[in-house]
Amino acid sequence: MAHRGGNFDDDDVMTAEPFANPARSLDEQLTETWDQLARAVLDGKHEWHLPVVSTIGLDGRPEARSVVLRAVDPAARILTFNSDRRSRKQGELEANEFMAWTFYERRDRVQLRISGPTTVHVDDEIADKAWLDTALSSRRCYMAPHAPSSRLESWNPNLPDGLLTSSPKQAASEAGRAQFMTVRTRIDRLERLELHHDGHLRACWRWDDQGLIDRSWMAP
Ligand SMILES: Cc1cc2nc3c(=O)[nH]c(=O)nc-3n(C[C@H](O)[C@H](O)[C@H](O)COP(=O)(O)O)c2cc1C
Repeated sequence: MAHRGGNFDDDDVMTAEPFANPARSLDEQLTETWDQLARAVLDGKHEWHLPVVSTIGLDGRPEARSVVLRAVDPAARILTFNSDRRSRKQGELEANEFMAWTFYERRDRVQLRISGPTTVHVDDEIADKAWLDTALSSRRCYMAPHAPSSRLESWNPNLPDGLLTSSPKQAASEAGRAQFMTVRTRIDRLERLELHHDGHLRACWRWDDQGLIDRSWMAP
């Protein structure tokens, strides 16, 4: 790839549309961020629909994986994804409650880096509600006979018998509830980086339990 100069040596970045100066305010950018996240929950084609979430592994190594963004609550500053309660994430979050979320959207070239204390819900009302919202096609994953990350002697799709290419019926799908958890991050840090060939925008916001405690532009 040819070097074009600038901070980010990426053809895609360098063809980005210029933004209209002056840059949008921090308030405008934050509002836009919540709106885009809300759209990404509903739109499976939106690239923010599939963020990467990171934990610290029990061996001290970072662990990052793709998940589906299931809900965003701007007022409470909560992001949600669903998972199998047998997965490693639960133990990792018990040992270290902080989770980082990374999003990138190619069209507008916006990266979000979000983090905060994170709770795992298995048997409470929050988990019940999330389970009710779960499609039958997704419930199949929670009916997997082997715990995620189990060592397998040979290839195994880890799906229930007879459901390799179909979804379970409603009644049968309830078997998945016992393996289901929903994971919620209460955002206390959010950083937005927007790439433009005539000047990137980078800014961050921080909150505590009382609300916003800091917001600032950052050097891109
Ligand atoms: C497109 C895509 C979407 C995924 N969505 C989820 C999800 O919503 N929840 C989840 O637990 N794993 C999801 N996974 C699988 C995870 O990336 C990961 O492989 C799995 O959760 C095991 O991770 P762990 O060993 O760190 O627990 C998804 C993977 C891909 C490729």
